[in-house]
Amino acid sequence: MSRLLIKNAKALLGIHAQDVRLLAGAGMADLPQITDAWLTAKNGRITGFGPMAEWPGITDWNDLVVVDASGRYVLPGWCDPHTHTVFAATREEEFVDKIRGLSYQDIAARGGGILNSARKLRDMPEDDLYVQAEARLAELMRLGTVAVEIKSGYGLSAESELKMLRVAKRLKDNLPLQVKATLLAAHALPPEYKDKREAYVDLIVQDLIPRVAEEGLAQFVDVFCEANYFTVAEMERILDAGLAHGLRGKVHVNQFTSLGGIAAAAQYGALSVDHLEVMDPADFDTLIQGTQSPSKGALGPIPTLLPGCSHFLGIPYGPARALIQRGLPLALASDFNPGSAPSGNMNMVLSLACIKLRLLPEEAINACTLNAAAAMDLVDELGSIAVGKRASLLITREIPSPALLPYSFGNDLIDTVLIDGAPFRTGEALA
Ligand code: NIG
Ligand code: FE
Repeated sequence: MSRLLIKNAKALLGIHAQDVRLLAGAGMADLPQITDAWLTAKNGRITGFGPMAEWPGITDWNDLVVVDASGRYVLPGWCDPHTHTVFAATREEEFVDKIRGLSYQDIAARGGGILNSARKLRDMPEDDLYVQAEARLAELMRLGTVAVEIKSGYGLSAESELKMLRVAKRLKDNLPLQVKATLLAAHALPPEYKDKREAYVDLIVQDLIPRVAEEGLAQFVDVFCEANYFTVAEMERILDAGLAHGLRGKVHVNQFTSLGGIAAAAQYGALSVDHLEVMDPADFDTLIQGTQSPSKGALGPIPTLLPGCSHFLGIPYGPARALIQRGLPLALASDFNPGSAPSGNMNMVLSLACIKLRLLPEEAINACTLNAAAAMDLVDELGSIAVGKRASLLITREIPSPALLPYSFGNDLIDTVLIDGAPFRTGEALA
């Protein structure tokens, strides 16, 4: 039985009421806090918090981890609802090609990009893939990530897609952070299906989705809906089959082209629509209609922006301010992958959100915590400081205000990371 006491916190941030499950529009700037505060946790869950002036005290000091957070902020750990963390190799040679002038699409057309990653992953033993991904996640937990969604999509055959999802399952079973997995077999058309695209979609719909659902290897299904990748009609087939097997959509749409994928995602009850770098005016209306009448009272589709991808590829940033002005919710994610966003650092995402998407620090923190948790169906577990939620928390260094987090881009201002009430990264607050 592990117990935790944090006392003297400069402030607890993100004290949202229990029934707040998603923030939208003007509400995104609402980051409730308690200054000069305490927090307790037991068996990994938050049991209480409040101002020091009203601290009830502790009678049993045995087995109690005590953190003095004087001068430090305590906030919910980062949730990252869109990553491709399982991959076989980095692609820095393509990065150099990009510097020389090739575009993401040029590189893909030469057999690079996703197909390059798929060739390498097919040849790599499952254990090697696991060891690499585990090391990546260990680094990300140190940087404050307490939940991560991981996609397949570098397998592009039944065997290799299942291999990727088994790796994600082992990560989920072995690491302290929360992991959700997504089947992204429709990430690129495998070359062997070049002249029979329908057969590949059949394989996904008839074989992979039922099998993955039955074996509990994924909770969501994804499609890269984009020119030269998968069409809206193909995505609809896949989302429909996913729904029939309990896998909701979390889809790549509007990265380079607006094809109508948002409307299809809304129609098939997708939890999130991710990327959105290229938006037609009609896409905003579709999103508004979709979020106002979500299927069966469920959340979604939640617009999820990936500013690390825009930064790395030099493509437009998603229209964050326009989405918020239209009253929509917004989540942020890293898109960690070897081709378009080779960093899973959510502190950097927070900075880019303020610098490039023009989010206020409060909006960006909410988009990386509460709304990000919602975009991976974890909002009842994580994303805010609330009694009963997981005590997966960040304790900052001694800083003057929370705005210093996004302001100090590239700097590490985290002192301590707690995951389920246990210290994962121990800093000065715990020493
Ligand atoms: O989210 N857009 C498609 N998929 C990834 C990139 C994958 C890759 O290039 O390896 C993305 O940007
Ligand atoms: Fe992605």
